[in-house]
Amino acid sequence: MKKTIVSLALIFLGLVLWSQDQNRSIIKPGEIWPDSDGNHINAHGGGILFNSGTYYWFGEFRLPRTEKDRSRYGVGCYSSKDLLKWKNEGLALRVTGDTSSMLQPGCVIERPKVIFNKKTNKFVMWFHHELKGQGYRAALTGVAVSENITGPYRYIRSLRPNSGVWPQNLPEQFKSLTVNNPDLKNGSGEWKKAVMEGLFVRRDLAGGQMARDMTLFVDKDGTAYHIHSSEENMTLHFSELTDDYLDFTGRYYRVLPGGSNEAPALFYAKGKYFMFTSGTTGWKPNPGRLAVADNLTGEWIPLGNPCRGTEDENKITFGSQSTFVLPVGGKPESFIYLGDRWTPENLADSRHIWLPVEWENEKPIIRWYPSWDLNEPVIPDNVLSSKEIKEGWKLLFDGNTTAQWMNANTKIFPATGWEIRDGSLIVNPGSKAPGGGGDIVTTGKFRNFELTIDFKYSTGANSGIKYFVDTEADNGALASIGCEYQLLDDRLNPDAKEGIEGNRKLASLYDLIAPKNVVDNGPDNWNRAVIIVNGKKVQHWLNGKLTVEYERSTPAWRELVSTSKFRDFRGFGEVPEGRLLLQDHGTAISFRNIKIREF
Ligand code: GAL
Repeated sequence: MKKTIVSLALIFLGLVLWSQDQNRSIIKPGEIWPDSDGNHINAHGGGILFNSGTYYWFGEFRLPRTEKDRSRYGVGCYSSKDLLKWKNEGLALRVTGDTSSMLQPGCVIERPKVIFNKKTNKFVMWFHHELKGQGYRAALTGVAVSENITGPYRYIRSLRPNSGVWPQNLPEQFKSLTVNNPDLKNGSGEWKKAVMEGLFVRRDLAGGQMARDMTLFVDKDGTAYHIHSSEENMTLHFSELTDDYLDFTGRYYRVLPGGSNEAPALFYAKGKYFMFTSGTTGWKPNPGRLAVADNLTGEWIPLGNPCRGTEDENKITFGSQSTFVLPVGGKPESFIYLGDRWTPENLADSRHIWLPVEWENEKPIIRWYPSWDLNEPVIPDNVLSSKEIKEGWKLLFDGNTTAQWMNANTKIFPATGWEIRDGSLIVNPGSKAPGGGGDIVTTGKFRNFELTIDFKYSTGANSGIKYFVDTEADNGALASIGCEYQLLDDRLNPDAKEGIEGNRKLASLYDLIAPKNVVDNGPDNWNRAVIIVNGKKVQHWLNGKLTVEYERSTPAWRELVSTSKFRDFRGFGEVPEGRLLLQDHGTAISFRNIKIREF
């Protein structure tokens, strides 16, 4: 009997966990993503088309390592209502047994994308196509069409686009240049200049332009563009498609000539066109790139790397290469970045890196989330989520004004030395005029609280977040005394080696307690400091790790203080409430997302 009850309880628990799992809206970038059959979704370098309330994900169906039948190769298709649970719809396009066809087993199909043509009522698929036994030499693009979104798609042909026609934006004088590739040293400045001036466009004019990494984009007026890495992957071509989307009109534009961009992924937001791309390092990830344009066909302006992670993460775009940007239905200005983390030795196992697109001063950026909730909106900087509001959080900085801060001595916010830029409160020593700058404190006082602050320190910087600052009692020179969460570039600021056993390092309780578990994102990267005060108990956290924990106003505390440089300040750190302070130590540092909740 007992056994039966235990088994029933276990079954019930299992059901509860299972049903919770079914209701999950959690994306876990980089993990195995099982489809309806329990297999990892095999749709790489892909894109998503939303049609009649369902999302359709098309991508490279890579032959699993165990698969011997090479004819099971082509474009995979999956469908989903919620972007989380995906049903395997099988191969939308499949290689053919006809050995005279370009689409025979052994060919390579990459980065397929599907768009819907309203005029013909047909679904059109384009893909990068390489021929059997020819490596990446052919540089063709293939087209296929279907009346049903999931296929099967009828293969039409593969070609190099735009043969015999010049790009719309190639200056007239470049058309007649006679520079030849073999006469130049590959990669030299001269060669790069020649590439920018159309070296490969001229070379490939008759036979058609190369087309490797690609995407499709339908503009507001319904005109579709085939966007592909051309000119030996040196320049992107934006090639207009005919009304039925099955061919090229011959109107095309060179974009970012000589920029070596691959993996284009475009979207339209806030009145502008944005494009994620990668550099050209094959399967290995490289620093992502972002560009913006007022018109789809240019001019495109590079905006740098859109990643906001650690230096190492940004260098490899969180281990991904862009493939698509998905507008999220029903949520204006809400987009998801889709990338691939390639596994060259087993491409079927390559992982899907989906990250929410966030906005930083009207520019799209991406941050790493090991897991994130599709149904939770991504909260912009210096804004509280509805959950945070419910939990009692308050902003101490709204990204635009300094109302809640003042100079610790003058009680007025300094006119120079501090500034607000890009939603950050910044110590800018360069802008400091005589009498400017100085430490700033909150206008309010706090007793028991949780404080969270994002900070980005410059190379070699020194600063700090102080709490229990008593500006009234300690006028003059002592105005800024309090317990300090130290902010320091431990690698380059000599103060890291001062004090006792590391008690002046980043995230320490300055000059009193050395930090543990320090995960430092390094200079010029955002870090998160959290300070929790609950009566006598205090904690410091850095980037999610507890670094310091102590109890104040105890004999041990007084003993500790007596060994520090605060030994002469009676009652140091013992006031029941105090102001918070951000230090101007003469080096540049930025703060944002300054939030507090009291209890
Ligand atoms: C990448 C490209 C991929 C694939 C790979 C082959 O640069 O984006 O789609 O072609 O090279 O090495």
